[in-house]
Amino acid sequence: MLDPMAGSGTTVLEAFLSGRYGVGFDIDPLALLLTKVKTAPLSASRIACIGKKIGVQARQAMEKRQDELWKQLASRWDTKTYEFVNYWFTKEAQLALLALMREIDQLSDEAVKAFFQLAFSAIIITKSGGVSLALDLAHTRPHRAKYVIAEDGHVIAGEELAGDAVKRKPVLTKKLRSPLEEFDKRVQQNLQGLPESNAKQMQLSWEAEADEPRKITPHVVRSDAKQLPLDNSTVDLIVTSPPYAANAIDYMRAHKFSLVWFGYSLGELTEKRKECIGGESVSHLLLAQLPTQTNKVIEEVRSDNDKKGKSLHRYYSEMKQVLQEMYRVLKPGKAAIVVVGNSVLGHHDTQIPSCLSEIGEEIGFCVPKIGVRNLDRNRRMMPAGAKLDLSSQIQQRMHQEYVIGFYKQ
Ligand SMILES: C[S@@+](CC[C@H](N)C(=O)[O-])C[C@H]1O[C@@H](n2cnc3c(N)ncnc32)[C@H](O)[C@@H]1O
Repeated sequence: MLDPMAGSGTTVLEAFLSGRYGVGFDIDPLALLLTKVKTAPLSASRIACIGKKIGVQARQAMEKRQDELWKQLASRWDTKTYEFVNYWFTKEAQLALLALMREIDQLSDEAVKAFFQLAFSAIIITKSGGVSLALDLAHTRPHRAKYVIAEDGHVIAGEELAGDAVKRKPVLTKKLRSPLEEFDKRVQQNLQGLPESNAKQMQLSWEAEADEPRKITPHVVRSDAKQLPLDNSTVDLIVTSPPYAANAIDYMRAHKFSLVWFGYSLGELTEKRKECIGGESVSHLLLAQLPTQTNKVIEEVRSDNDKKGKSLHRYYSEMKQVLQEMYRVLKPGKAAIVVVGNSVLGHHDTQIPSCLSEIGEEIGFCVPKIGVRNLDRNRRMMPAGAKLDLSSQIQQRMHQEYVIGFYKQ
């Protein structure tokens, strides 16, 4: 069972739980990490023990080896990346994050390391920007806090604003938590997700063992869905959910806040971001020939806004490549199930489900049906407009999810 854009790993996890061989690709290192951790056979007691040790040693380094940490901070990144780190993290937070990362880097068991890398990431990438100075790391461009206070109330940055800017403070103020404490808490929280930490669950899993399918370790690696590293006609089932069109959710923009700590430079991350399906820039890409209806939708968007029309053209060109690859790797008689959302570009419905079906059919797929599922407005990732207008057909479609079945004969 394959997911060429594995995201948080739902498909790979389901494959694992049902005894299938799951294969997951993604170009985002954090998505891969999440998928790996979800399916790794980790022992909660061992993780708890290692987690404690990481905390103790990181604290010791902060107390006794600060000079070493400062030196490492100054030499860890190229100038541009270090500027980014300095802009978004206080010096105090940098020291603590580096102390933690040094301990995590030393772990030799890859699955254990991935568990702690994920916990580390989660203390930065939260909706409110975690231990960074970002006020928001969800779906908007991040803003930096101007007035920063520690948990004990002392002012870390923006002292000059303390007296006069009462009005500005609520929007630009951040109470910064200690990375070491946040890390401890996050490890505890993530431990709850491991079966062994829950005695009852453990007992249940033993009882169910005889009936449970044999678990097969999934294959999760970095790869571009437009060029799958798989042989022709080798896959039994694809279940995937591609990104939205035209940069609707820019995963990499937020993820780089933690990925720089893993040793990536800003330059590398910018290159990775270019490979993301649904980006806005079209300068480096060849736009594909597309079928009639899809072209019409693109032209409609372009007639109002050339840039938006081009980015939609980019999206459909990239998805054409992905669908071609899916067709190539699927065995005959097997299917790809693609779950998509729709989006509006400059007041135009981008008609994602029908355009993707048209592209798929041109490639050779048979599309017997498109299923529709209503979404809870509050659970939709992408904002569908500030005002809810139930009479608007477009808005209604924004609250639906489409399940397209692509069948290879
Ligand atoms: C909508 S999410 C997938 C959601 C997923 N089904 C889940 O359960 O979380 C889309 C994913 O596609 C990935 N992606 C974007 N461009 C890609 C590409 N060229 N190759 C592989 N993955 C890509 C993104 O990094 C993101 O993780």
